[in-house]
Amino acid sequence: MGFIKTIKRKYIKAKSFFESNSKIYGQNILITGANSGLGFSLLNLLRVNNNILAFTKKNQSNIRDLNDHKIKILNLNFELNEFNNELIKKILNFKPNIVINSAAVFGPEKQSIHDTNYEEFLKIFSINVFSAIEIVKICLKSNSLNQIINISSDMGSINLNKEGNYYYYRLSKTLLNSFTKNLSIDLKNKINTYCIHPGSMKTKLNSGGILNSEYSARKIINIIAKNQIQNNGRFIDINENNLDW
Ligand SMILES: NC(=O)c1ccc[n+]([C@@H]2O[C@H](COP(=O)([O-])OP(=O)(O)OC[C@H]3O[C@@H](n4cnc5c(N)ncnc54)[C@H](OP(=O)(O)O)[C@@H]3O)[C@@H](O)[C@H]2O)c1
Repeated sequence: MGFIKTIKRKYIKAKSFFESNSKIYGQNILITGANSGLGFSLLNLLRVNNNILAFTKKNQSNIRDLNDHKIKILNLNFELNEFNNELIKKILNFKPNIVINSAAVFGPEKQSIHDTNYEEFLKIFSINVFSAIEIVKICLKSNSLNQIINISSDMGSINLNKEGNYYYYRLSKTLLNSFTKNLSIDLKNKINTYCIHPGSMKTKLNSGGILNSEYSARKIINIIAKNQIQNNGRFIDINENNLDW
């Protein structure tokens, strides 16, 4: 099984060379979860032609290693809901055009109904959903947005769920989907708002993933670059197929 996964990963890595590069230029792009996995891959590809405001939890090492002084970094632990005035001002001054909410945690290994508790739900919902809501609320005040992309997961789909378990992660992504759909109705014809499932990627969050995050990032950038109004209110994968809510 491990051998097949390795072959698949190598194939996808090779394939990602042929994915076109960023066609997004001159945009102010806010990315959460920007120091690792998908968030970092998006930042690294988009930074060349755009201005980036990167949200990190604490560790900024990957971004710092790029030595790119154009990238602005804001530190915030989303668990703590500490969106103070100073931070809000920095976001508004940045005048974001595109928001990509990528930050998330999977939660503890054991997530059966018997393992769940209120405090852990609150913690995971704060990181995976409430932070995205707060960021969007602030960015809307800037009147500069043209797209909101919430990175979700097929594990949040109610219809596609055949296996149960994983209450923290599944419920958080279902709520993120619901938030996105509701918002897309409120912002219709103004701001393109949708969810993307990035695929199974080998990252800190998923050590058994198949894709490398750069491959998913390139596909996502191609979708964002088109800024198609028909994506508003959709839940799609990186090949732009509709996923069941
Ligand atoms: N990997 C997959 O197979 C997969 C599949 C479907 C969907 N997704 C989604 O893809 C997105 C990116 O995940 P990933 O796979 O790239 O995993 P990742 O590398 O672990 O990225 C998650 C990011 O969220 C940040 N984060 C975690 N807790 C935080 C907190 N309390 N405050 C602020 N930031 C926090 C992490 O920061 P630190 O590095 O500092 O902890 C990290 O940069 C997530 O929304 C995930 O649900 C992933």
